[in-house]
Order: sequence, then C-alpha cells, then structure tokens
Amino acid sequence: MAAYDYETHDYDVVVVGAGGAGLRATLGMAEQGFRTACISKVFPTRSHTVAAQGGIAASLGNMGPDSWQWHMYDTVKGSDWLGDTDAMEYLVREAPKAVYELEHYGVPFSRTEDGKIYQRPFGGHTTEFGEGPPVQRTCAAADRTGHAILHTLYGQSLKNSAEFYIEYFAIDLLMSEDGVCQGVLCWKLDDGTLHLFASKMVVLATGGYGRAYFSATSAHTCTGDGGGMIARAGLPLQDMEFVQFHPTGIYGSGCLITEGARGEGGYLTNSQGERFMERYAPTYKDLASRDVVSRCMTLEIRDGRGVGDDSDHIHLHLNHLPPETLAERLPGISESARIFAGVDVTREPIPVLPTVHYNMGGIPTNYWGEVLAPTGLDDNAVAPGVMAVGEAGCASVHGANRLGSNSLIDLVVFGRAAAIRAADVVDPNSSVPRPERRSVDVVLDRFDALRYAKGQVPTAHLRLEMQKTMQADAAVFRTEETLASGQEKMEDIATKLDDLHVTDQSLVWNSDLMETLELTNLMPNAVATITAAAARKESRGAHAHEDYPDRDDANWRKHSLVWFQGSNASLGYRGVILNPLTSHNEGGIDLKKIAPKARVY
Ligand code: FUM
Repeated sequence: MAAYDYETHDYDVVVVGAGGAGLRATLGMAEQGFRTACISKVFPTRSHTVAAQGGIAASLGNMGPDSWQWHMYDTVKGSDWLGDTDAMEYLVREAPKAVYELEHYGVPFSRTEDGKIYQRPFGGHTTEFGEGPPVQRTCAAADRTGHAILHTLYGQSLKNSAEFYIEYFAIDLLMSEDGVCQGVLCWKLDDGTLHLFASKMVVLATGGYGRAYFSATSAHTCTGDGGGMIARAGLPLQDMEFVQFHPTGIYGSGCLITEGARGEGGYLTNSQGERFMERYAPTYKDLASRDVVSRCMTLEIRDGRGVGDDSDHIHLHLNHLPPETLAERLPGISESARIFAGVDVTREPIPVLPTVHYNMGGIPTNYWGEVLAPTGLDDNAVAPGVMAVGEAGCASVHGANRLGSNSLIDLVVFGRAAAIRAADVVDPNSSVPRPERRSVDVVLDRFDALRYAKGQVPTAHLRLEMQKTMQADAAVFRTEETLASGQEKMEDIATKLDDLHVTDQSLVWNSDLMETLELTNLMPNAVATITAAAARKESRGAHAHEDYPDRDDANWRKHSLVWFQGSNASLGYRGVILNPLTSHNEGGIDLKKIAPKARVY
C-alpha cells in the first residue's frame, strides 16, 4: 500500500473545475451560505470557457419577436430528437433569467442603440417553429463572451467567500463501499502535497474531452477528467458517440472562428467561388445547424471542390462586411485570423476546416445535475453525493447535436440548477462524511503506480496514437469499416496504459505525471466514444454513419451508456425522457410541435 501524507479539508460542497459551469455552481452554493471550495487545475480565468466567442442563447426578444417555445423547438430539432424533453424545457425556460442574472452580476454585454443586450443570429436558431426567418437570440459580449462571463463569475464567487484551490489536480473521487461519493483526493501541483477534500456534495465541472482528438478547438486542458473519475467509480458515460465538429476551425491550427462570423453575415465558398450552402440548406444556408454545415464542407472537399494547394479546406468570407462591424463585433477573430492564418479579414477569406469542438455526451445527469446510476429497474436512479454540470455532464439537452450558443447557456443554467438542488439535498447542519480509508488507499495506489510506471511506452507517444486513431476513425463521416477497425485499435491502445513509462518521479510541477493522469482520463472517454459509435446503426446529429444514412427512431431513439471494468467497456441503453416538465394545459409546449420529423434546414 502506498504511503503518502495528506491534509484533510472539510466542506459542504466541493466543485471540481472553474469554467462557466463550475463558477456558476460555486457562486450559487456560496450565495446560500454553503461552505464551498472550488478546485481547479488552472487559474479560474484560464479555464476553457474563456475561449467561448460568439455568445449565449436566450429568448430575450431584444432584436425582434422570440419565445422560449421557439427556442425549445430549435433545441429539440438540433438534438435530432435525442435530448431529454424535461431538461430541454428547463434549459430554455430558465435561460432568460440566467442571462439577466449574469447582466446584474456585471457581465459587460454588447448593447443595442437603446441599451438592451445585443443578440446575433446563430446556426439553427429560428422563428415560428422552424418556419420563419433566423432569429437573433445569441447574447454577445463582442466575440469574447466566455471571457466576460468567466471574469464576472470569478469576481462574484470571491465576493461571496467561496474558497479557491488553484492548480490542484483532482486525482479521483472517494466512493464509499455502498456507492456514496464522500469527497475527492487532489494533488497540489506547485508543492507536491496531497489534499483530501471531504464533502457532502462533489460537483464535477471539468469540461469536455476534445483532446482525445488530434485537432480540436479545445484547450490542451480539456482531458475529460470528470468522465475518467466517473468511469473508475463504476458509473456509466452517456451518448459519447456524438462529437461535434465546428465548421470553422482555422486550417492548420484548429483555432476557433466563431459561428458569430456567419451570424454577422459571413459565408463559405468552395474552389469555384460558389456559396455551396445555398444548395444544401436553401432556407437557412450558412446558418444551418453546425453538424449539417460541417458535413456539407466535408462533402465539397471530398468531391474535389476544396480550396488551397491540396484542395483540402474551405474559405470563410468576411471581407464584404463593413470594417466597423468587424472591429466592433468580431475583434477577437480578426486578430486570431491574422495570427494563426496570416489573413487580413477586411481583404481576404479565412481558410477553415471542420474541427472537433464539443462533446454532446458525458456523465449522465437529471436536469438538476445529479449524476445518474441507472439500474435494471430504474433508468433515472441517482448516485448520492455527486453532480456533474457543463460539458462534463449530459443532462441531456443537446442530444445528438448541440446548437451554437446553447453551450454557454447550458453552463450557467445547470451550474445554477445544481446550487438550487443543493438547497434540498445538502444539509448545512449535518457533519461532513469521513471518506473510508479503503477508498483513499485505492486512489493513492493508482497515483503511486503511475508515478513509478516503468513500462515501454512514453505518455506522449500513447496520447498521439490515441488522438490520430480517433481523428481518422471517429470522424465527421463514419462507416462500419472505419468504426470496427477504430474500435479494435482503441482497445489495443487502451491496454497500453499498463505499459506506460513516466520519466519524472518528483511531485513538484511534474508535467509528465500530470499528463499521464490526464491520459488515463482521456482514454475511457475515447474508448466509450468509439464503442458507442460502432454500435449505433443509424445516422443522427453528429453521428453520420454512411452505411446507415437515415435516422431510425424505432430502434435507436435511446441514450447509449458505456461502463468500464479496467479497460474493458460494456454497453447498455437508457430511454429518452419524452415527458415535458409542464403539460400543454398548464402553459407547457404543445408536444405536437416537437414531434419527430425529417430534419431539414
Ligand atoms: O462559434 C462559436 O462562437 C461557438 C459557440 C458555441 O460553441 O456555442
């Protein structure tokens, strides 16, 4: 048994992760007087939410008519009818409240002439249940909306006496023998000490796992740490086959060019100078849902109409827009295009390519953020003591495909929901649980084994092998053959975790060991992705299966679940929640409006 000293900290609530969801949960918990700790492996305002550009969706109706029912229709259709109806209703109805709260906390939104929050068009957001013109629903702070939100929430959390543990890496959850989460064990990166955080509730807000792929808009810190911890705790991951490719990553670097660029009037062309989206999506054109646009771009390139020396990318034009619009609304991407593509957006198109951007799947939760532990008898049973919010979680509001700007609103609505729920399920007067010694030993033994790993495979090599396999075999388009071979390769790659070689054994700023821990988190996320994708014999949202091109609601309108035992993955399924929170008679949506149909833009 590995012997390490550790310091113990007691809290009502521990939030792991300090992006938009983590900070909104932290703030909501601290405002209610819970003793709240927020643990982050990076400084909070460097969390990946800082890179979110275009905005946050809410039907404020500042630029024209809008309603939560239209937002709900668009979200259901965007999800390709895989989202849970109760969670989607909760998201769109709470969205305006959550945005006005942000405004009152101090988020510096861009403004209309009459001082209201400025809203721009985004892909897949429409009026009149998809029958009317695009709607301006995405509330923006220029093209730095995530940056503005993160700084505001961090300041407010400090004001409310939340306590921050910065540059602490969460190694694993501490689970009791009977499946209750009792805290989390962490490694302080700058001095090598270990810390046991005992708490009544752990909220995982660790973000996505974009870095399971070779090219992603995600930060290098997006390593699916929450998913890794949940998998090791014996709980499932949900809908992992649905990986979103953003249409406009900069060719080469993968750096994000916001969909807001097309919202402000930008458009895509092929090598013939054709605005090809007019052919594929005659109504909404470049503002079709992003899985649709990414597939159309890929088809253009495949058919030999890509641009550049290798005909392998697409052009995004902003050069027809007034320079004042670019300076006022899109300053950040104008700078990114100059730095990462050497392009002056006032004169030349930006070279772009669909790039991994978001994980619709994650840790299954209900719409309060409580983690699900489905059993044969109850699909919606809750795992006590643990919640998951933001991209780490899967509520599921995005189903098989997320609409642009529905991510920032997911972060704040469900971060806030976790805090509202905590008022009912966390007793501030009860004593903090004492994690079982056995659970601490399990975590320490794993940490120690990785620290002294003396196998044949350096972490960086294995990570690259995983990333290239995922990029090639779980791509925008998938086939029976690529998925089967990808699954076989990933199973082999995952077993090599037992043969890792870690060179640095120190505990202070040991990036070799930290990246190894991150790789052990990325791996179950990646294996779950390809396993669930290989099993799903239909096309839905971001899962475009060339051998099964149609959506098959009769057999596949269900959530995939993947459990792990060591590196072995096993599959199961869970029903989609079809009941809304509110019946039509009581002011809820007319279910006939959101019944499944062909998804065309
Ligand atoms: O294009 C963007 O600004 C990204 C937004 C999002 O993913 O929601």
